Amino acid sequence: MKGIKIVSTGRCLPERYISNDDFSKVLDTNDEWIRSRTGIKGRYKCQDETCLSMATTAAKKAIDKAGIDKNEIGVLLVATQTPDYIFPSTASLIQKNLGMDEEVMAFDISAACTGFLMALGTARGLLETSAKKYALVIGSEELSRILDYEDRSTCVLFGDGAGAVLIENSNKEFYQKAWSRGNVSALNCLGPGYDNIKLSMKGNEVFKFAVTALEQGIQEIMTQKKITMEDLDYCICHQANERIIRHVMKKYPGHEDKFYMNIEKYGNTSAASIPIVLDELNEMGKLREGMKILCVAFGAGLIWTGVYLEL
Ligand code: UT7
Repeated sequence: MKGIKIVSTGRCLPERYISNDDFSKVLDTNDEWIRSRTGIKGRYKCQDETCLSMATTAAKKAIDKAGIDKNEIGVLLVATQTPDYIFPSTASLIQKNLGMDEEVMAFDISAACTGFLMALGTARGLLETSAKKYALVIGSEELSRILDYEDRSTCVLFGDGAGAVLIENSNKEFYQKAWSRGNVSALNCLGPGYDNIKLSMKGNEVFKFAVTALEQGIQEIMTQKKITMEDLDYCICHQANERIIRHVMKKYPGHEDKFYMNIEKYGNTSAASIPIVLDELNEMGKLREGMKILCVAFGAGLIWTGVYLEL
């Protein structure tokens, strides 16, 4: 199976930043509760930006950094739960915004917080038969639009943002596994046309699911690829809650530094969380050829997935 090379990355966060203390002025909550239960110190919130504008900016940054001809992009995927429009897709509007050639396979993917990894696997496959060299995979979320700001147990957890990754096929390893367990009650948001279109979550239920889902993702992929945590450079988990990641980390003593975390700055940005991590690592020069990375995510569905890739 052909693998992928990360050519470049980009991210975009809204201007406006909401600290935990900002929340405590309008809601019965406090910095101590939020930090100790989630690891979050603050999150960005759209004001003038939208899911589409953030996705466009993140994509442009990735293309500019790579210095490639944007018309060499044959696949353009956006993972999102909060598109500006149900249709047209965010991806086809990015094609227009960036002035890209019309010959591009552009569409959105709905897979909640696993969306970016699902899109990455899809883009990898589509690239194999594309006449063009590159795929652009974006995760963008304006979750603030669907949050209930009277529900303190959910609204403090999520943030807005976007991350983009430009890839090309390589002859390195790529392996993905995914699971699905239809469940509405744990985490859902009704579709367009209904009243009260807000995110609804049973936090405790999702927490328990998340820990086992991440552990299963990591373990099954390592078993399949006959590797151990020792062989990996990074194990990147969906940034939903620091406590969830620390729970998983405990299984792998001595490898704590491989579990990169940035949730304190952004909160849970759903489909944008993993590409934002990748962009931060890339910016710091920490993604190098030959590295072995495992990414794992879980989300509404309930669904979960793990991706093993050699850079
Ligand atoms: O990508 C989407 C996936 N979603 C997740 O990963 C979420 C997973 N779940 C979680 O992260 C945690 O379950 C939460 C952070 C949502 C909640 O933490 P918890 O430790 O499970 O708290 P809890 O729901 O058991 O609530 C404990 C207490 C309750 O008060 P009582 O009933 O004990 O008096 C809540 O009302 O904390 C209260 N509480 C708050 N207090 C202050 C809930 N939210 C807040 C808040 N500030 N924001």
